[in-house]
This record gives sequence, structure tokens and C-alpha cells, in this order.
Amino acid sequence: MKRLLMALALVPVLAMAAPAIARAQDAPKGDPAAGARAYSGKLCRMCHGEDLEGGFGMDLAGRNITYKQFLRAIRQPWSLMPQYNESQLNAQMAADLYAYIKSKPAGKEPSHWHWPQPPSSAPLGQRIYINVGCGQCHEPENKFARMWLGEHAKEVNYEYFKKQIYQHTAKWPRGSMGDYNPDRLPEMMLKEIYQFLVVDLGVRASIGGGITIAEQAGGNTTYKLTVSNRGVKDSGATAEGLTVFVRIPEGAKVVSGTGPGYKGQQSLKSLGLEPGLAVATHPNEQGVTPRPPADLAGDVVVWKLPKLVASDKAELTFTLVGAPNEALVKAMDGSTVHWEKPGRTPFGQKLAYRDVRTPDKGDHERLGLPRLP
Ligand code: HEC
Ligand code: HEC
Repeated sequence: MKRLLMALALVPVLAMAAPAIARAQDAPKGDPAAGARAYSGKLCRMCHGEDLEGGFGMDLAGRNITYKQFLRAIRQPWSLMPQYNESQLNAQMAADLYAYIKSKPAGKEPSHWHWPQPPSSAPLGQRIYINVGCGQCHEPENKFARMWLGEHAKEVNYEYFKKQIYQHTAKWPRGSMGDYNPDRLPEMMLKEIYQFLVVDLGVRASIGGGITIAEQAGGNTTYKLTVSNRGVKDSGATAEGLTVFVRIPEGAKVVSGTGPGYKGQQSLKSLGLEPGLAVATHPNEQGVTPRPPADLAGDVVVWKLPKLVASDKAELTFTLVGAPNEALVKAMDGSTVHWEKPGRTPFGQKLAYRDVRTPDKGDHERLGLPRLP
């Protein structure tokens, strides 16, 4: 009788031990440090907080979930988290992420949303866009994706856009945005987002460029400036009315310049254009994004080009007296390529909760700075 009771008492213990062993086995060995890098690189931090303390998504630090539950959460999310598949986030990366979550102690107060909710006066499409989570990664206006869409401007319609959301990984197999599930993010909502981003704000031309050091000779330095339209030939948006300007420090002497539309040295103020901002500014309590005052002091080297068509680039150079140094590179910060068309739409001009990195008229992008030898 005593024996039987002991045996019975053991049953629940054994029953509990079995899944515990299975659990320990099904979690592959992960490296928390690699997990921390994936957490940042795959942009989990935008929703779950820099320290896994939570934000738009729940807190993950020290969360008591099994590896199976973790895999389910990322492969088939329960609600509005994008779904990450094997090509974007492989088994090793998943194990590393899991180890990272397990290594972090819980307890920190949840953080705020990375980008706050727009006020109720904001356009419906923008409110949905932020409230379903897109805006946590993409900021108030999806500046970057509207540029990627601009690379295929002639093909972009609702069907094209929809594919980039529901079958995102087809074009970006190793990207950081997962696929969205139409059951969780219904087309009814996606159509409003499309209206806001693509119809009302419009796609942007994909223009970018950078400055490099080409040559140092006879006490002078020649800098090369490449400005390209990354759009796909015959499909991408054409930029019209471009002004390229490079900021130079006070007292710098321009020896010469080459390339189409070279205009030489001028004061930045005389151009009537503002340098691009490095980071997006958050809106205030009223949901209005104030533009920080621009520093218009000093001179710039200027080129004006009538247009830059998709897949084309302009190669420009300028030569300054003296060797490059850190102060010079710092002074060049804010060098910008501005274009008149396609620019901010009247709808965009009225938007209060907005991205002030783009100007009120036209559009622009900052130029990459040279690296010192
Ligand atoms: C767009 C915001 C967003 C991003 C980006 C995001 N998540 Fe989530 N996550 C959520 C939301 C919202 C939930 C709540 C449940 C759901 O939507 O599936 C969640 C739930 C989870 C859960 C489930 C937690 C539990 O206890 O059930 C895990 C684990 C998780 N996320 C991990 C990740 C990882 C890892 C990444 C990056 C690869 C990531 N998330 C990226 C929003 C996000
Ligand atoms: C986890 C951060 C994140 C979230 C959340 C997110 N995106 Fe993205 N999105 C990206 C990144 C990063 C890219 C660039 C491609 C990549 O790495 O997957 C991108 C690319 C895009 C593109 C460009 C596709 C192309 O090449 O034409 C569009 C459009 C887009 N996102 C729209 C959205 C919309 C709409 C939502 C919400 C339903 C959303 N994104 C949610 C990070 C995110």
C-alpha cells in the first residue's frame, strides 16, 4: 500500500519532468551577443524597445516562454507583428535571439512607442500606418520606402504596393521587414495606407550621392562627387531641376570644378535652399513636427543640372587648396542634392505630423561625406 502511494505520488513528478527535458532539448544553443546584434539589425528594437523593455510591442526581457513559443511568435505572429521566415531569420539567428531574450533580466518600465500616435486630426491613412506598426520602423512618412517605390515608379500601383507588404520577402529575401498577413492587416486598411503614402504623398525620386577624395597634388585636393538616380531604367522617377551643393569651411579656396552645370562658389544663403537634416525630428504634444532652424552660414560649391533620369549618374569634381582634415569633413556635413520635381505635394505641405528632413518645396537628400585617408 505504501509503495503504491509513493508510485502514484511520483506520477505527476515524472509527467512534469518529461516536457521540461524536451524543452531543454528543442532550444538549440544560441549566443546572446549574436542575438543582440540580430535584435538590432532586424529592427526588433523598434517595437520591443532598445533594452527589450517593450514599446509598441510587449516587453521581452526575461520573458518566460519556451523556444517553441518563441518560434511560433516570429514565424506565425499572433497579431500585428510582421512574420519573419527562414531566409530572413534562420534557425541559428532565432536561437541567438532566444538566448538574448533569456539573458536579459525583466523589470524595466516599458518604454513609449518609437513614433507616437498621430493626433486624431491626422489623415486616416497616416493614423492606420502608425497604429498598425509600419511607422515604428518607417517614421511618419515612409521616406525610404517611397524612394524604393520611386525606383519602379511606372510599375507602381496598388497591386504592386500590396505585393511589397504581403509578399515582402519575394523582393527582399534577406531584409528586415517580414511579410504581413492579410488576415491580420486586411486590405481595407492597406488601401488607406496606400492612399496616404503613394497617392497623397507620392513616390520620391531615388537620388543619392557622396563625396570622395580623388587626388592630392601640388598642395591641392580634388574631391569627386557622384550623384546617381538609383531608379530602374525606363521605370524609375526622373528628378528635375537639381541643385547640388557642397558646404566648405570659412576661408576655403576653390581652385576649380568640373562636371555639368558647374557654378563655382556661392554663399549658401543666396541659393534659397536648406541643407538636409541628419535625423528625423519627433512631433510635439500637438502632433506637429517643428523644423529646427537651419544653419545657412558659409559658402558652398554649386552645380545645377536640368534633370537626372533613372539609372543615370552625374560625376562632378572640385579642387580645394590644402589637404583634407577632420575639420573640413565636418564643415562639409549638410552638403545636399536638392531637386524641384517630383517634390512635396500640396497634401504633404499641409501635413502637420510629418518628416521635416524633406523640404517644403521640392525634395532633397544629404550627400555622403569623404573618408580621410
Ligand atoms: C512592428 C512591430 C514589431 C516588430 C518589428 C517586432 N515585433 Fe515582436 N511583437 C510585436 C507585437 C505587436 C507582438 C504581440 C503579438 C503579435 O503581434 O504577434 C509581438 C510579440 C512578440 C513575441 C511574443 C512574446 C510572448 O511572450 O508571446 C516575441 C517572442 C517577439 N515579438 C519577438 C520579436 C523579434 C525577435 C523581433 C525581431 C526579429 C520582433 N519581435 C519584431 C511587434 C513587433
Ligand atoms: C521591422 C521594421 C519594419 C516594419 C514594421 C515595416 N517595415 Fe517596411 N521596410 C522595412 C525595411 C528595413 C525595408 C527595406 C527592405 C527590407 O529590409 O526588408 C522596408 C521596405 C518597405 C517597402 C519598400 C518595398 C519596395 O522595395 O518597394 C514598403 C512599401 C514598405 N516597407 C512599407 C511598409 C508598410 C506599409 C508597413 C506596415 C504595414 C511596413 N513597411 C512595416 C522595415 C519595416
